[in-house]
Amino acid sequence: EKVFFGNKIIDRDEASFSFDDRSMYFGDGVYEVIRVYGGHPYKMERHFRRLQRSADELDIPYADEEKQALEKAVYELIAANQLDEGFVYMQLSRGIAARDHLYDRHTEPFSFAFTQEMQTPKKQQAEGIAVYLTEDIRWLRCDIKTVNLLGNVLAKRQAADHDCAEAIQHRGDTVTEGSSTNLFIVKNNQLQTHPANHLILNGITRQLVIELAEESGYTVSFTPFTTEALLEADEAFITSTTNEITPVTEVRGTKHGTLDIGPVTSRLQEMLQADIE
Ligand code: PDD
Repeated sequence: EKVFFGNKIIDRDEASFSFDDRSMYFGDGVYEVIRVYGGHPYKMERHFRRLQRSADELDIPYADEEKQALEKAVYELIAANQLDEGFVYMQLSRGIAARDHLYDRHTEPFSFAFTQEMQTPKKQQAEGIAVYLTEDIRWLRCDIKTVNLLGNVLAKRQAADHDCAEAIQHRGDTVTEGSSTNLFIVKNNQLQTHPANHLILNGITRQLVIELAEESGYTVSFTPFTTEALLEADEAFITSTTNEITPVTEVRGTKHGTLDIGPVTSRLQEMLQADIE
């Protein structure tokens, strides 16, 4: 098993992290997860653009050579590990420096990447999942894909403790997104999802679904909606790189209810599948 670590491809066993990596002390780093289908990275350029944006927003220097090295690493790791179905995880940390809240703009960033095999969660995509409603306690820059994911991991654990596959977070009454997914509802053939502002991560899959929906004549509204609207929706589904499009069939937590898997969700699943193939 090969990994990309500090600009070299090495064996996973040989990679050892520095105490002083700022992503360790402060969660001071950004990341991306790129899906690999049949040995090919899917929508790689979009993920790299988002990594660039996340780094820029956090004032982490991300030079062209760094980007080129990471892009090259994606292909080298897929080949070296003979990855067919899975994903590439990559992380860019602000770098290695003695612990100090105050960062120095000259610290050199540190990046690494690894591959992991995975299968498409076909059963969940066909049968739907239960989700758990929970208060969104995260900071106000959820648009940045940082490795500081405490709110997300606590929400995911809470969901699992209630036998739900995903948490759906809400700020007050307003639904934002899942712990590692975006959420759409469908009402009267119209799609609705939280606007891409500072309160959610603008998912690549979210963007693809919007494009596919609009191409096939559906209207997509970017007005925030309530937990009540989720329960009253005709259909609901989550999206992410690893989940693709997964229907929501049950809601638990502060409110309860069930939903059917509907034609709009199925149609979008087919269109996304066609794009992947
Ligand atoms: N999660 N919202 C959050 C908070 C996320 O962490 C993710 C991705 C998404 C969906 O984004 P995309 O469609 O670009 O994958 C939405 C990744 C997969 C992860 O953390 O593993």
